[in-house]
Amino acid sequence: MAPSFIVVEGLEGAGKSSVIELICAFLVAKGHEVECTREPGGTPMAEAIRECVKQTWDEVVTQETELLLMYAARSQLVENKIKPAMSANKWVIGDRHDMSSVAYQGGGRGIDLSVLSSLRKMTLGDFEPDLVLYLDVEPSVGLARARGRGELDRIELSGLTFFENARKTYKALVSASSKAIEINAMQTMSDVHSNVTIALQDWYTNYLLVNNISTETDNTVKDVREI
Ligand code: TMP
Repeated sequence: MAPSFIVVEGLEGAGKSSVIELICAFLVAKGHEVECTREPGGTPMAEAIRECVKQTWDEVVTQETELLLMYAARSQLVENKIKPAMSANKWVIGDRHDMSSVAYQGGGRGIDLSVLSSLRKMTLGDFEPDLVLYLDVEPSVGLARARGRGELDRIELSGLTFFENARKTYKALVSASSKAIEINAMQTMSDVHSNVTIALQDWYTNYLLVNNISTETDNTVKDVREI
Protein backbone atom coordinates (compact mmCIF):
# COMPACT_ATOMS: atom_id res chain seq x y z
CA MET A 1 0.00 0.00 0.00
CA ALA A 2 1.61 3.27 -1.10
CA PRO A 3 2.04 5.74 1.79
CA SER A 4 0.43 9.16 1.66
CA PHE A 5 1.51 12.69 2.51
CA ILE A 6 -1.10 14.43 4.66
CA VAL A 7 -0.77 18.15 5.42
CA VAL A 8 -2.38 20.28 8.11
CA GLU A 9 -2.72 23.96 7.24
CA GLY A 10 -4.12 27.03 8.97
CA LEU A 11 -3.37 30.42 10.45
CA GLU A 12 -1.52 30.80 13.75
CA GLY A 13 -3.61 29.58 16.68
CA ALA A 14 -5.69 27.23 14.51
CA GLY A 15 -4.71 24.22 16.66
CA LYS A 16 -2.54 22.36 14.12
CA SER A 17 -0.35 20.60 16.72
CA SER A 18 -3.12 18.71 18.50
CA VAL A 19 -4.75 17.79 15.17
CA ILE A 20 -1.40 16.40 13.98
CA GLU A 21 -1.19 14.23 17.11
CA LEU A 22 -4.71 13.00 16.38
CA ILE A 23 -3.89 12.13 12.75
CA CYS A 24 -0.69 10.40 13.85
CA ALA A 25 -2.60 8.24 16.37
CA PHE A 26 -5.23 7.45 13.69
CA LEU A 27 -2.61 6.27 11.19
CA VAL A 28 -0.61 4.30 13.76
CA ALA A 29 -3.84 2.52 14.80
CA LYS A 30 -4.27 1.54 11.13
CA GLY A 31 -0.86 -0.10 11.25
CA HIS A 32 1.20 2.55 9.44
CA GLU A 33 4.63 3.89 10.30
CA VAL A 34 4.39 7.68 10.52
CA GLU A 35 6.87 10.54 10.22
CA CYS A 36 5.89 14.10 11.23
CA THR A 37 7.48 17.16 9.64
CA ARG A 38 7.02 20.91 9.84
CA GLU A 39 7.56 23.84 7.48
CA PRO A 40 9.65 25.82 7.37
CA GLY A 41 11.93 23.28 9.05
CA GLY A 42 12.30 19.55 9.47
CA THR A 43 15.98 19.13 8.48
CA PRO A 44 19.03 20.78 10.14
CA MET A 45 19.38 23.33 7.34
CA ALA A 46 15.64 23.95 7.02
CA GLU A 47 15.41 24.46 10.80
CA ALA A 48 18.17 27.11 10.52
CA ILE A 49 16.13 28.78 7.76
CA ARG A 50 13.08 28.64 10.05
CA GLU A 51 14.94 30.54 12.80
CA CYS A 52 16.21 33.01 10.25
CA VAL A 53 12.81 33.73 8.67
CA LYS A 54 10.87 33.97 11.93
CA GLN A 55 13.22 36.24 13.85
CA THR A 56 13.15 40.03 13.82
CA TRP A 57 16.08 41.75 12.07
CA ASP A 58 17.51 45.29 12.26
CA GLU A 59 17.03 45.53 8.51
CA VAL A 60 14.08 45.21 6.18
CA VAL A 61 13.32 41.58 5.32
CA THR A 62 12.02 41.86 1.78
CA GLN A 63 9.04 39.76 0.80
CA GLU A 64 11.16 38.23 -1.96
CA THR A 65 13.72 37.04 0.63
CA GLU A 66 10.94 35.62 2.77
CA LEU A 67 9.42 33.78 -0.20
CA LEU A 68 12.74 32.33 -1.40
CA LEU A 69 13.63 31.12 2.10
CA MET A 70 10.30 29.30 2.36
CA TYR A 71 10.95 27.45 -0.90
CA ALA A 72 14.60 26.79 0.02
CA ALA A 73 13.47 25.16 3.28
CA ARG A 74 10.73 23.21 1.46
CA SER A 75 13.17 21.86 -1.12
CA GLN A 76 15.53 20.65 1.64
CA LEU A 77 12.67 18.98 3.50
CA VAL A 78 11.02 17.29 0.53
CA GLU A 79 14.26 15.89 -0.93
CA ASN A 80 16.00 14.95 2.35
CA LYS A 81 13.14 13.85 4.51
CA ILE A 82 9.68 13.48 2.98
CA LYS A 83 10.57 11.55 -0.18
CA PRO A 84 13.04 9.20 1.60
CA ALA A 85 10.44 8.52 4.33
CA MET A 86 7.76 7.70 1.76
CA SER A 87 10.19 5.48 -0.15
CA ALA A 88 10.71 3.62 3.16
CA ASN A 89 6.91 3.10 3.27
CA LYS A 90 6.28 5.68 5.98
CA TRP A 91 3.25 7.94 5.94
CA VAL A 92 4.18 11.60 6.36
CA ILE A 93 2.19 14.26 8.20
CA GLY A 94 3.24 17.82 7.39
CA ASP A 95 2.67 20.80 9.66
CA ARG A 96 2.23 23.19 6.69
CA HIS A 97 3.40 22.82 3.09
CA ASP A 98 3.06 24.72 -0.19
CA MET A 99 -0.44 26.07 0.52
CA SER A 100 1.12 28.20 3.31
CA SER A 101 3.31 30.01 0.77
CA VAL A 102 0.32 30.74 -1.48
CA ALA A 103 -1.72 31.98 1.50
CA TYR A 104 0.99 33.99 3.33
CA GLN A 105 3.38 35.18 0.60
CA GLY A 106 0.78 35.19 -2.21
CA GLY A 107 -2.38 36.32 -0.41
CA GLY A 108 -0.80 38.03 2.61
CA ARG A 109 2.19 39.80 1.04
CA GLY A 110 0.61 40.11 -2.41
CA ILE A 111 3.35 38.40 -4.44
CA ASP A 112 2.25 37.47 -7.95
CA LEU A 113 1.03 33.87 -7.98
CA SER A 114 2.86 33.16 -11.25
CA VAL A 115 6.15 33.70 -9.36
CA LEU A 116 5.08 31.09 -6.80
CA SER A 117 4.09 28.75 -9.61
CA SER A 118 7.58 28.93 -11.11
CA LEU A 119 9.25 28.32 -7.74
CA ARG A 120 6.90 25.42 -7.03
CA LYS A 121 7.67 23.86 -10.39
CA MET A 122 11.43 24.27 -9.84
CA THR A 123 11.52 22.93 -6.27
CA LEU A 124 8.67 20.39 -6.14
CA GLY A 125 7.92 19.35 -9.71
CA ASP A 126 4.63 17.47 -9.48
CA PHE A 127 5.08 16.42 -5.84
CA GLU A 128 2.01 17.36 -3.79
CA PRO A 129 0.05 16.23 -0.72
CA ASP A 130 -2.60 13.51 -0.98
CA LEU A 131 -4.78 15.29 1.55
CA VAL A 132 -4.79 18.79 3.08
CA LEU A 133 -6.80 19.48 6.23
CA TYR A 134 -7.25 23.23 6.52
CA LEU A 135 -8.20 24.43 10.02
CA ASP A 136 -10.12 27.65 9.55
CA VAL A 137 -9.88 30.30 12.24
CA GLU A 138 -10.59 34.04 12.23
CA PRO A 139 -7.27 35.89 12.50
CA SER A 140 -8.32 37.79 15.66
CA VAL A 141 -9.21 34.50 17.40
CA GLY A 142 -6.07 32.69 16.20
CA LEU A 143 -3.70 35.54 17.02
CA ALA A 144 -5.18 35.88 20.51
CA ARG A 145 -4.47 32.16 21.04
CA ALA A 146 -0.93 32.58 19.65
CA ARG A 147 -0.33 35.59 21.91
CA GLY A 148 -1.40 33.46 24.89
CA ARG A 149 1.47 31.06 24.05
CA GLY A 150 4.16 33.77 24.15
CA GLU A 151 5.59 36.70 22.20
CA LEU A 152 4.67 36.97 18.53
CA ASP A 153 7.45 36.43 15.97
CA ARG A 154 8.24 38.58 12.90
CA ILE A 155 5.60 36.96 10.67
CA GLU A 156 2.98 36.90 13.42
CA LEU A 157 3.49 40.66 13.79
CA SER A 158 2.40 41.24 10.18
CA GLY A 159 -0.98 42.72 11.14
CA LEU A 160 -4.64 41.77 10.85
CA THR A 161 -5.06 42.71 7.15
CA PHE A 162 -2.16 40.40 6.23
CA PHE A 163 -3.85 37.49 8.04
CA GLU A 164 -7.29 38.33 6.66
CA ASN A 165 -5.85 38.17 3.14
CA ALA A 166 -4.03 34.94 3.95
CA ARG A 167 -7.29 33.42 5.26
CA LYS A 168 -9.23 34.52 2.14
CA THR A 169 -6.58 32.85 0.00
CA TYR A 170 -6.64 29.66 2.06
CA LYS A 171 -10.44 29.43 1.73
CA ALA A 172 -10.30 30.01 -2.04
CA LEU A 173 -7.56 27.38 -2.45
CA VAL A 174 -9.46 24.82 -0.38
CA SER A 175 -12.73 25.29 -2.22
CA ALA A 176 -10.90 24.91 -5.56
CA SER A 177 -9.07 21.73 -4.54
CA SER A 178 -10.46 18.19 -4.54
CA LYS A 179 -7.70 17.17 -2.12
CA ALA A 180 -8.40 19.75 0.59
CA ILE A 181 -10.99 19.74 3.38
CA GLU A 182 -11.92 22.73 5.53
CA ILE A 183 -12.56 22.22 9.26
CA ASN A 184 -14.07 24.94 11.44
CA ALA A 185 -11.35 25.45 14.07
CA MET A 186 -13.34 27.98 16.09
CA GLN A 187 -15.38 25.24 17.81
CA THR A 188 -14.37 23.49 21.04
CA MET A 189 -11.29 21.33 20.68
CA SER A 190 -13.35 18.15 21.07
CA ASP A 191 -15.71 19.23 18.24
CA VAL A 192 -12.72 20.09 16.02
CA HIS A 193 -11.19 16.70 16.77
CA SER A 194 -14.38 14.80 16.03
CA ASN A 195 -14.81 16.68 12.72
CA VAL A 196 -11.20 15.85 11.81
CA THR A 197 -11.68 12.18 12.70
CA ILE A 198 -14.84 11.93 10.56
CA ALA A 199 -13.16 13.65 7.59
CA LEU A 200 -10.05 11.51 7.94
CA GLN A 201 -11.98 8.24 8.24
CA ASP A 202 -14.05 9.11 5.12
CA TRP A 203 -10.92 10.01 3.19
CA TYR A 204 -9.11 6.87 4.37
CA THR A 205 -12.02 4.55 3.45
CA ASN A 206 -12.15 6.11 0.00
CA TYR A 207 -8.35 5.82 -0.29
CA LEU A 208 -8.59 2.07 0.42
CA LEU A 209 -11.37 1.67 -2.14
CA VAL A 210 -9.54 3.62 -4.83
CA ASN A 211 -6.42 1.56 -4.18
CA ASN A 212 -8.42 -1.68 -4.25
CA ILE A 213 -7.60 -2.57 -0.64
CA SER A 214 -9.88 -4.51 1.73
CA THR A 215 -11.59 -2.42 4.44
CA GLU A 216 -12.51 -5.49 6.50
CA THR A 217 -9.56 -5.40 8.86
CA ASP A 218 -9.28 -2.61 11.40
CA ASN A 219 -5.74 -2.45 12.76
CA THR A 220 -4.06 -4.39 10.00
CA VAL A 221 -4.76 -3.16 6.52
CA LYS A 222 -4.21 -5.82 3.91
CA ASP A 223 -4.06 -5.64 0.17
CA VAL A 224 -6.94 -7.74 -1.25
CA ARG A 225 -4.49 -9.45 -3.53
CA GLU A 226 -2.75 -10.92 -0.46
CA ILE A 227 -5.98 -12.33 1.05
P1 TMP B 1 4.36 27.84 12.65
O1 TMP B 1 4.99 26.56 12.30
O2 TMP B 1 4.40 28.17 14.09
O3 TMP B 1 3.00 27.97 12.07
O4 TMP B 1 5.28 28.97 12.04
C1 TMP B 1 5.56 29.07 10.70
C2 TMP B 1 5.39 30.48 10.27
O5 TMP B 1 5.86 30.63 8.94
C3 TMP B 1 3.93 30.92 10.26
O6 TMP B 1 3.86 32.29 10.63
C4 TMP B 1 3.54 30.79 8.81
C5 TMP B 1 4.82 31.11 8.09
N1 TMP B 1 4.96 30.49 6.78
C6 TMP B 1 4.91 31.29 5.65
O7 TMP B 1 4.75 32.51 5.75
N2 TMP B 1 5.06 30.69 4.43
C7 TMP B 1 5.27 29.36 4.27
O8 TMP B 1 5.41 28.87 3.16
C8 TMP B 1 5.33 28.55 5.46
C9 TMP B 1 5.57 27.08 5.34
C10 TMP B 1 5.17 29.15 6.68
